[in-house]
Amino acid sequence: MKLWAGRFSKEVDKKTNDFNSSISFDARMFEEDITGSIAHAKMLCKQNIISKEDEEKIVNGLEKIKEEIISGELAIDPNAEDIHTFIEGELTQRIGQAGKRLHTARSRNDQVALDIRMYLRKENEKLINTVRQLITVTAQSAKKYYDVVMPGYTHLQRAQPITFGHHLLAYAQMFLRDLGRLEDAGKRMNVSPIGSCALAGTTYDLDRKFEAELLGFDKPCSNSLDGVSDRDFCIELASAISILMMHLSRLSEEIILWCSWEFKFIELDDAFSTGSSIMPQKKNPDIAELVRGKTGRVYGDLMTLLAFMKGLPLAYNKDMQEDKEAIFDAYDTVNVCLSAFIPMIETMSVIEKNMKKAASGGFINATDCADYLVGKGLPFRDAYKATGELVAVCIEKGETLDTLDIEEYKKVCDLFDEEVFEKIDLQKCVSERKSYGGPAPENVLKEAEKILKEI
Ligand code: ARG
Repeated sequence: MKLWAGRFSKEVDKKTNDFNSSISFDARMFEEDITGSIAHAKMLCKQNIISKEDEEKIVNGLEKIKEEIISGELAIDPNAEDIHTFIEGELTQRIGQAGKRLHTARSRNDQVALDIRMYLRKENEKLINTVRQLITVTAQSAKKYYDVVMPGYTHLQRAQPITFGHHLLAYAQMFLRDLGRLEDAGKRMNVSPIGSCALAGTTYDLDRKFEAELLGFDKPCSNSLDGVSDRDFCIELASAISILMMHLSRLSEEIILWCSWEFKFIELDDAFSTGSSIMPQKKNPDIAELVRGKTGRVYGDLMTLLAFMKGLPLAYNKDMQEDKEAIFDAYDTVNVCLSAFIPMIETMSVIEKNMKKAASGGFINATDCADYLVGKGLPFRDAYKATGELVAVCIEKGETLDTLDIEEYKKVCDLFDEEVFEKIDLQKCVSERKSYGGPAPENVLKEAEKILKEI
């Protein structure tokens, strides 16, 4: 029997019923639905809208239902229209008249808006903790590899020497911003829509502030139309998650490259790699690839939310039922990605000699060579040109700046002497890059420790 049975003379067509139903994906909000209903009953009683006796029956009945769903004693009916309908129906079956009073001054429109906010608040707190772990693991790794020299790239061409620790800390900064975005969206979301009712509030004397406080919200929303039709929080959270996934995907891409034979900068732990069914030599970075792939899926969730909201007139429209699958999928996906990604980062090992070798081979100390001439009084543009000529000589002779004879240096510019080799030594090049935010090992250690202390 439908909630709206009074107005209709026919049962709804089975296929229409299935199409309309959201229970298969909103059942996961059963605890929030019950918590919300308990607070609603308490508020109704405090305002003398229902009796104390009815309130007690409702609260006890709902608590029992919750326990039974958790223990598995009560199965959620897959044929119910949604979780709100199921719980209210179950309660009414158990406690009779009192159950029918629960929905006074409430609509499923404000009920669902409430439930989803509470559910996402809980999920967001979990995700925030996981992102903290991600930051911790990234900063710990940076600390471990604080002085390991590697080539820094632009255009995927070797550019200047950096430390691996510094490279990892760049990601730590991205993750810190992700954390900030999730926290910020969480704060903005923490406003209670309950009491907006279907769209136009109610004539009952509600205490919305009291109900909001019972449920841990900062305040009730101040416009009933906005209360039931706002899904900004889903979009904000999905976009914060999308940006986080974008960062994970960039790091994944680098990990995939670094694992290749062409780079061989790192090795993933066996527990976080896979083999091939046919090629015995293969060790594949599947986790990183899947994270990169699933990023597209999370972007899809964000697009779903943005697209279905864009043309909706106020207030509630059934289109909005689509919010849940999209935002739940975004959380589920980022959670499953992080559950594999964090230990993969924690256990990966670095092949320092390969990083160093790559750093030695690509003239990445050319800027330092030019800076050496600047130190000798040459303007930077001239120093740049002279170093360019030197690089051309090296390429022609199959040498590097470190192996080229000093006489060749002098031919290009007579300001050069033996000291240049010390200046362009890679370890020296990075340790001298002490400018604030630069890759010098001492900077990396300080920065990693700062992050670990603050997180
Ligand atoms: N199941 C709906 C949703 O998830 C909530 C019910 C509101 N339905 C309605 N016809 N007013 O959005």
